[in-house]
Amino acid sequence: MTTTPKDSQIKSKQRVAERGEVFTAEREVNAMLDLVANECLRPDSRFLEPACGDGNFLAAILKRKLAELRRKYKKSAHDYEKQAIVAIGSLYGVDIMNDNVEACRQRLYAIWDEEYTAHCKTEASDETRQAVKFIIARNIINGNALTLMCVDSEGNDIDAPIVFSEWTLISGCQMQRSDYTMADLLLHNDRTQSDGMNSLFALTEDEKEEGGIFLRRYITHYKKVQDYGD
Ligand SMILES: C[S@@+](CC[C@H](N)C(=O)[O-])C[C@H]1O[C@@H](n2cnc3c(N)ncnc32)[C@H](O)[C@@H]1O
Repeated sequence: MTTTPKDSQIKSKQRVAERGEVFTAEREVNAMLDLVANECLRPDSRFLEPACGDGNFLAAILKRKLAELRRKYKKSAHDYEKQAIVAIGSLYGVDIMNDNVEACRQRLYAIWDEEYTAHCKTEASDETRQAVKFIIARNIINGNALTLMCVDSEGNDIDAPIVFSEWTLISGCQMQRSDYTMADLLLHNDRTQSDGMNSLFALTEDEKEEGGIFLRRYITHYKKVQDYGD
């Protein structure tokens, strides 16, 4: 597994023709992220890449967030770990191609894990690594961003809507997961004229429940988010 930049922006002519798959070069990614530079530093600032490919934007944002955490939490591996979990939980992606989704998940995990070891001077525990893998698997979804449905290995819609989990550190080490369909999130975004996932997830609890968009919720230690099923 590698986190070095890729040379080619194209995998095959067929994929370009069928799926419009042309990856954004690192220089352009960073130029665009510079426009929202401060948001890329906050661990809890949420980003969605709706046709994420193997995650060029998400990988660059994660690196920026983790670099900021390294600077901020030089002396506390515990605080670094907690906030680094918040950071990975803030990144969402959808892609119709299964291999891109797998590559994106592995890439984000490799960045997270390598940064952890470099900063904390020790490897993350198995439990923490499982939590990170679980969050990435939930946030990076094999789906169709136009129909808002999950897809099969051929890219055909299946009878399951795209569902995103909101991960929120509510106190100490307690993390809350709340699930919403992407369709509902976008609908509420339109209605509230809001400016992205942050403001959408920032609806009050009453508003979320009144809107009937809330699907599932639990609270647990951030290292145990994977212990409650899928
Ligand atoms: C132009 S590439 C961009 C990839 C990445 N965002 C980047 O900037 O490097 C477009 C991506 O959209 C994906 N894609 C095409 N149609 C899609 C759809 N309906 N839903 C989700 N992803 C789609 C392709 O598989 C491809 O990875």
